[in-house]
Amino acid sequence: MYFPDVRMRRLRKNENMRRLVRETKISVDDFIYPLFTVPGTGVKNEISSMPGVFQMSADVIAEECKEIEALGIPGVILFGIPEAKDEAASGAYDEFGVVQNAIRAIKDSKNSMLVLTDVCLCEYMSHGHCGVVRDGEVLNDISLELLAQTAVSHVEAGADMVAPSDMMDGRVAAIRSSLDETGHTDIPIMSYAAKYASAFYGPFREAAESVPQFGDRRSYQMDPPNALEALREAALDIEEGADIIMVKPALAYLDIVRMVADEFGYPTAAYNVSGEYSMVKAAAAKGWLDEERVVMESLTAMKRAGADIILTYHAKDAAGWIK
Ligand code: PBG
Repeated sequence: MYFPDVRMRRLRKNENMRRLVRETKISVDDFIYPLFTVPGTGVKNEISSMPGVFQMSADVIAEECKEIEALGIPGVILFGIPEAKDEAASGAYDEFGVVQNAIRAIKDSKNSMLVLTDVCLCEYMSHGHCGVVRDGEVLNDISLELLAQTAVSHVEAGADMVAPSDMMDGRVAAIRSSLDETGHTDIPIMSYAAKYASAFYGPFREAAESVPQFGDRRSYQMDPPNALEALREAALDIEEGADIIMVKPALAYLDIVRMVADEFGYPTAAYNVSGEYSMVKAAAAKGWLDEERVVMESLTAMKRAGADIILTYHAKDAAGWIK
């Protein structure tokens, strides 16, 4: 059958008709909200390139998490900005490090939300790279030990899930075996499996104070033109024990989200990164875009592409907009 028997517009006539045939529905259940934690008490500093996003001390984070829980968001992911950085990222796996303290503050406030942690070394390294550096090279194998130690220390402070974002080879296996050896067999790993070397991380690096002091991250993060390689990365992480697979960034990589979701059928996460957030915020502030509509359209697109989980700085706003 063709026109005039078929008229596609019949089912678009009004909002109730559209609701009935809507294929993708986004829910607050899909969100993870990223938070940046700093030392001290009573600290809440807005990140200039990410309006509405703050660096917060553990006590402020715990309060903030009450609000996030009340909105129905299932979890947060923590990033830490330590007091001091060094060449061994010692703040990353310090029992009383910034992230460890924030986890305890959230848990002590009897919040039942999931507390995830980003497992990486870049925020804790004086050079800002995600692994140990010798003679200008980011070394893989010796970084694994520090990453595994970091993951274990997050879990011992109370984290419910760890999310390695460093892109060293073999880190999921290293983290899995360290967690298992220390008795944390039931803690899942969400791996940043297909993490691209992206310019969209710009504002995050201001937020996390993790700009590399030399070079860039292209020797470990993925080359943006590659898609088949993302499938290999995801397959390896699954082999190594990842429970959830992430693609990052989201919007410019929705083809990858779709491929990974279809190929593996694993819970798939998309990270709607800082640059994606800041672009919308900046354009909305100028009155060039309708923020609510653009955000909801973008988040829905991520879900339509196959994402089950969306990490997004828009989570709180979107929770309020979802009907
Ligand atoms: C740490 C890390 C980064 C992001 C998440 N974890 C930055 C990077 O790799 O440079 C980016 C998040 C964002 O841009 O919102 N390695």
